[in-house]
Amino acid sequence: MRLIFLGPPGAGKGTQAKLLTEKYGIPQLSTGDMLRAAVAQATEVGKRAKAVMDAGQLVSDEIVNEIVSDRIDAADCAKGFILDGYPRTVPQAIALDRMLERKGLKLNAVIELKVDEAALVRRMENRVAETVAAGGTVRSDDNPEAFKKRLMEYREKTAPLSDHYARTGQLKTVDGMADVEAVTAEIDKILA
Ligand code: AP5
Repeated sequence: MRLIFLGPPGAGKGTQAKLLTEKYGIPQLSTGDMLRAAVAQATEVGKRAKAVMDAGQLVSDEIVNEIVSDRIDAADCAKGFILDGYPRTVPQAIALDRMLERKGLKLNAVIELKVDEAALVRRMENRVAETVAAGGTVRSDDNPEAFKKRLMEYREKTAPLSDHYARTGQLKTVDGMADVEAVTAEIDKILA
């Protein structure tokens, strides 16, 4: 099973991807998590990505394409994977199409979570509150200013991907405003 989750920041991509990893025994490939790990380890990629991420902007296509291509080759991706937060620009989508073709792999579905923007700010605030309550570290881009920029980047650079995948016939849209269990049930129906 090879899937892509599309949707704005806070749409629930990570939440649903994690649930599917358990069900299908395949990994969640979150470019956001991979980049945050690189920042935490102060690798070369992490050093280049930190300021861009803190400002709510997108890291360069070149960096993320390379990270994903390497990650897909890992043994735990042999049965499939769930791409969460990648691709995020049309050039990334084209690079992924070529990458999969080169590796002889095909996507099963592209699932877009549709949500109202007003709800997203509240979800980000909830995540911050939950993280603080649990004694965790709040993401450096989970603040009103960076979140506004993340939404702008989404509208400008990522939203056009819906058309890209509608043209290939792979796009499936799910109401991301429903509660987590109902969203999962809709996704299960698509993948059945
Ligand atoms: P990334 O880590 O991918 O963040 P994001 O896309 O902004 O998405 P989030 O993690 O905020 O949201 P999500 O949709 O996963 O929602 P979640 O399930 O957590 O990217 C961060 C940064 O990395 C980018 O800004 C960029 O700089 C860089 N980057 C990453 N990938 C890149 C790429 N490909 N190219 C270039 N740069 C890249 O849910 C959010 C909250 O809502 C949670 O608290 C959750 O419990 C709650 N929730 C979830 N579902 C529901 C529901 N149905 N109802 C109510 N609450 C819900």
